Amino acid sequence: MNYRIGVIRGDGTGPEVVAEALKVLEAVREGFEIEPAEFDLGADRYLRTGEVLPDEELERLKGCDAILLGAVGDPRVQPGILERDLLLRIRFALDQYVNLRPVIRYPGVQTLVPSHTEDDVNFVVVRENSEGLYTGTGGFHRKGTPHEVAVQESINTRHGVERIVRYAFDVASNRRKHLTLVHKTNVLTFAGDLYQRVVDEVAAEFPSVQTDYVHVDAACIYFLDQPSRFDVIVTDNMFGDIITDLGAMIQGGMGVASGANIAPDGVSMFEPIGGTAPDHAGRGTINPLAAIAAVQMLLASLGEEKAADRVHTGIGYATQRMKSMRAGEMGYGTPEVGDLVVEGATS
Ligand code: IPM
Ligand code: MN
Repeated sequence: MNYRIGVIRGDGTGPEVVAEALKVLEAVREGFEIEPAEFDLGADRYLRTGEVLPDEELERLKGCDAILLGAVGDPRVQPGILERDLLLRIRFALDQYVNLRPVIRYPGVQTLVPSHTEDDVNFVVVRENSEGLYTGTGGFHRKGTPHEVAVQESINTRHGVERIVRYAFDVASNRRKHLTLVHKTNVLTFAGDLYQRVVDEVAAEFPSVQTDYVHVDAACIYFLDQPSRFDVIVTDNMFGDIITDLGAMIQGGMGVASGANIAPDGVSMFEPIGGTAPDHAGRGTINPLAAIAAVQMLLASLGEEKAADRVHTGIGYATQRMKSMRAGEMGYGTPEVGDLVVEGATS
C-alpha cells in the first residue's frame, strides 16, 4: 500500500508539531509506504500572495488519502480569514461532517482536576462539523449605526442531524454503548427539538445503545464533577467546539488533545485541536503529543490498526516518562517528546 498524505504544516507551532507527527508516522509504518504531499497554506502564503485556498489546491487535497494539519491562524492576519476560508472551507468542501474528539487520559498525565482518577476520563465527543452556527448564514443590517442588527443563524438540516446522530450511535455501539445528546433543548426549542427527535428515532436502529440527554451547561459541570458518566456525546457544531476545549483540559491540556474531521465517504483531516500557540512558536517548547495522537487516528482511519496501536503505545510510554510534569507543563523539548514516542512505539 502507498498512502498519499496531504501535509498542511500551517502557522505558529503547526510546523514543529507536524514534524514530530511525521517522524512518528515514518517510524511506526510497516507494510505500507507514506507519500507526503506538501501544501503551502496558511498565513505566510496569504501574506505573500493574498491567496488562502486556491481551487487547484482544494482539488489536490481531494486527491489525498488523508490530510494532516498542524494549525492555522496568525496574529498578523485579521481573525476569521484563515479560519473561515481555509479550515472551515476544507471541512465543508470535503464534507467532513464528523468532528471526532476523544477525551482520554494518557497514563501519568496530570490535570487540573486532582479528584479525577485516570479511568474517569474516557469518552468521545462526536461534534457535528458541517452546519449549525458555522455556515456563515446571516448578515448585518444598518451596520455601523446605532440601530445596527447582526443576525447569525444556526442551520440544522434533517439530513445533517440524522447523519451525525447515526454516526455517533455507531461509535457508541462499538464502545460502552451509551450515547448522550448534549444540547440546550430548554432554550433552542427548534434545533434542540430536531436533535432530540432524531436521537429518539435512530435509537430504534441501535437497541443495544442506551441514550441520555444533558444540557450543555450542565455537561460542563459533569466534565469536572462526574466525567465517567459519558461514553459518547453527540452535539452540534458550536457546543462541540466549546465543550471539547474543556474536554482537553480534563485530559491534561491542549497539548494532548487531538481531533479528526471525518468524511466517512471521502478524505478526512486530522489535527491537534490546540491552535497555533503563537507565543510558543519557533522555540521547541510546544507539546507535539496532540499532533502525534492525530496521526494515530489517521492510521486507524486508513485501516492500519497495528501502526495506530503502536502510536498509542508510544504516547503512553512518553507520558509515563514525562510524569513528573505538572498540568500544562512539558519539561522536555518538542523533538525529545517525538523521540520518546518513537522509542516507546518501536521497542
Ligand atoms: C476548532 C477551532 C476552529 C473551530 C476555529 C479555528 C475555526 O476552534 O477546530 O475547534 O471553531 O472549529
Ligand atoms: Mn475550537
